[in-house]
Amino acid sequence: MLYSSNTGLFAGQKVVVTAGPTREAVDPVRFISNRSSGKMGFALAEAFAAEGAKVVLVSGPVNMATPAGVQRVDVVSALQMHEAVFDHLPGTDVFAGCAAVADYRPGNPQQQKIKKAEQQLELTLVKNPDILAEVAALDDGPFTLGFAAETRKLAENARIKLVRKSVDMIAANLVGENRGFDMEGNALLVLWSDGETELPMQSKKSLARELIQVVAEQQVRK
Ligand code: CTP
Ligand code: CA
Repeated sequence: MLYSSNTGLFAGQKVVVTAGPTREAVDPVRFISNRSSGKMGFALAEAFAAEGAKVVLVSGPVNMATPAGVQRVDVVSALQMHEAVFDHLPGTDVFAGCAAVADYRPGNPQQQKIKKAEQQLELTLVKNPDILAEVAALDDGPFTLGFAAETRKLAENARIKLVRKSVDMIAANLVGENRGFDMEGNALLVLWSDGETELPMQSKKSLARELIQVVAEQQVRK
């Protein structure tokens, strides 16, 4: 069921959230993916819905229950996520790209299982579309929130992403050993064109609730 309330910070607004990893097929039984759990994206979808938004959650393969009041669209690959996002984009006020979209996919996925033969096997990877950058490039598009997972130089790399993709806001977090992916809690550095704020280490659910407050504040300035 999809319902939105007429009270709350995002009452009357439509929000599209992407979450989780994508899987890029190598052959019918193998794929390339990453360690994203989907927790942050699901927490964001839940937080927006709790604030009255009509939420569409486009999710890669994750092991998570759909938050109450959220319309979930399941996808597997980056190309499918791209298509689902643009299908649901009309009328969207906020787009939150939280998915760990695979940057590349095998250029020539095999229809049959690859047999073991030579000592080396070369895979050619081709670039996937950048969903967030495409949404941010639209005229009269939604307010865009992107994430930046970095292993170093957090603020510097995140600000480069903000400008390069021309998104309205980036929530940056350090990933790596015991941080970010697949963890219960996280901390975020949130940046926009002329400001930034730090959200300290806390559960992803509570982080999501704080983050959407920052979105609401900056959205009115857009
Ligand atoms: N993103 C996307 N589509 C892609 C790749 C990334 O929508 N094909 C979005 C992610 O959902 C995230 C943001 O872009 O909100 C940044 O993702 P990240 O992997 O940190 O940045 P990239 O631009 O892919 O750069 P790099 O991986 O080289 O750091
Ligand atoms: Ca990437």
